[in-house]
Amino acid sequence: MEVRIEAPAKVNLHLEVLAPRADGYHDLVSLFHAVDLVDSLRLQRTGRTGPVSLGGMGDREPGANLVVQAIELFRRSAGVREGVAATIRKRIPIGAGFGGGSSDAAAALRGCQALFGSPLDEATLGACAAALGSDVPFFLRGPVAVVEGRGERVRVLEARTDFAIAAATPQARVSTADAFAWLDADRGAGRARAPFHRGAGALARAYRRLPPDEWPFGNSFDGPVRHRLAAVASLCERMRACGAAAPRLTGSGSTVIAVFADADAAAACVRELAAAPPAGTVREQIRLLLPLASLPGVEYYG
Ligand code: C5P
Repeated sequence: MEVRIEAPAKVNLHLEVLAPRADGYHDLVSLFHAVDLVDSLRLQRTGRTGPVSLGGMGDREPGANLVVQAIELFRRSAGVREGVAATIRKRIPIGAGFGGGSSDAAAALRGCQALFGSPLDEATLGACAAALGSDVPFFLRGPVAVVEGRGERVRVLEARTDFAIAAATPQARVSTADAFAWLDADRGAGRARAPFHRGAGALARAYRRLPPDEWPFGNSFDGPVRHRLAAVASLCERMRACGAAAPRLTGSGSTVIAVFADADAAAACVRELAAAPPAGTVREQIRLLLPLASLPGVEYYG
């Protein structure tokens, strides 16, 4: 038996990092939105006791490892010993703030549930997701949610699709752990901007009620990453020149996104950027993204 499933990227329309916690993580308040940039996964039961194998990308890719970890965790939690062969077609750039590795892991969990007759209940599945990474629980639930805590508290909202996003990913990528460390350093030195103080309820209300080009959203990583990566700073400037009102990072970067209420204006911004990419960004990493109205379903084969 075989299943196929698409794993979408996310953008953070808003991301506020709160204080560091005793466990080394930070609490967040964020608005996550799945978009139409997807990796594709294929999972097959091997029919006999055996290992998890992964094809389609090099062994050293972190996303690849997270898929294997997700399947192993599923097998341990569900008491499954049968082998699983996974293949992935990767399109979401890594280290870019799109949550690609986390989405692949969530898709692997959902795919395994489908392959083995849903042996895990919702709570166990959610705990598996949280153990795999802070962004993984969102990808079980999406396509849009206010996310809190370390990332494990996910409140799903009804999706809006009346906006479009211009996105550009510089060649320099950002490690999530580094970005949190830069933010803490800037805050410690009194260099960080004032907090947004926008609670979960206010985020949800603004998302529901305001026109997308008036969303009062931001990202705590903007200053710390912009100061350290010249490519991000020049991208933000160029995006403004191309008509973007408030370009900002998604996740901890390095992708810069800009929300447009008008899809044609977003497409024009993408074309203009791609015609003369700023230093440190290549044409292939400049794209128009559309919000998803629902998470892709699992397709069965064989
Ligand atoms: O959970 P994940 O493995 O994606 O996190 C990577 C790193 O990012 C963590 O080790 C931690 O340093 C930092 N992090 C954090 N607070 C979060 C999420 C991640 O400090 N909410």
